[in-house]
Amino acid sequence: MDLLKGKVCLITGTGKGIGAETVRRFAEEGAIVYGTDFIDGCLDRPFNELSERYKTSVLPLYFDVTDENAAKAAVMKIKKEQGRLDVLVNNAGIMKDNIIGMINHDLMQKVFEINVFAVINMIQLASKLMIKQKSGSIINISSIVGVDGAAGQMVYSASKGAVASLTKAASKELSPNGIRVNAVAPGLINTDLFRAIGEKKIEENLARVKMGRLGEPIDVANVITFLASDLSSYVTGEIIGIDGETQV
Ligand SMILES: NC(=O)c1ccc[n+]([C@@H]2O[C@H](COP(=O)([O-])OP(=O)(O)OC[C@H]3O[C@@H](n4cnc5c(N)ncnc54)[C@H](OP(=O)(O)O)[C@@H]3O)[C@@H](O)[C@H]2O)c1
Repeated sequence: MDLLKGKVCLITGTGKGIGAETVRRFAEEGAIVYGTDFIDGCLDRPFNELSERYKTSVLPLYFDVTDENAAKAAVMKIKKEQGRLDVLVNNAGIMKDNIIGMINHDLMQKVFEINVFAVINMIQLASKLMIKQKSGSIINISSIVGVDGAAGQMVYSASKGAVASLTKAASKELSPNGIRVNAVAPGLINTDLFRAIGEKKIEENLARVKMGRLGEPIDVANVITFLASDLSSYVTGEIIGIDGETQV
């Protein structure tokens, strides 16, 4: 449908899972896509294949999202190569869990550095370009547990709650400049991050999904594509649940 034809997009954490599928969906809709990962070279082959398949540019950038200087250099590279940035998807994230008595400072720091501080930093960098353009769409990945909380996930839930509130705050500040900021709040999505909880827990969790199935990365990528596109041109400051009616 060419929903994103010619739009320059940056998506973080695209080696697998939701990020990888979002790169594919954006390319399918005609976007020029920059995807990131931190393992040098790991995106080269899949991105070349996507570029050929969808007749567009799908380009890798290698950096850790917590490295502020590397993140800045990556955004500057996009500016130099394309002259603009239309869409930022802050997808990179980690889920590290422990019961309350076992949470230590290292765990808190790691989760917040990636899930929150890096997201704020990327919004700062991208919005500088978008303000000059007077347009842009920023999409963050919160979670159902960021709204409802989950036992054994105090730190991860708090980080995703922060993503929801920073999304609303950024929308209030940036919408006068024509920049929309939204988030998605996925439930249980069939990726490595979720499957790390183990088969037994996956079955237990599945029983809480009224639709009776896990979400797939494409279920999330489709909503992100809508938020990136002009179909959502008057939608900002929203946190859109993608959970098949899951009871946390
Ligand atoms: N799956 C779910 O059920 C679910 C539900 C709600 C929200 N989410 C959120 O959705 C987002 C994507 O999750 P996913 O399930 O697709 O996870 P995933 O399969 O683990 O993929 C996450 C990607 O982010 C990359 N990444 C992690 N830390 C990074 C860093 N510091 N710098 C650069 N890249 C980094 C990973 O790279 P490596 O492969 O090299 O580690 C990986 O490619 C996350 O923000 C997650 O919290 C997921």
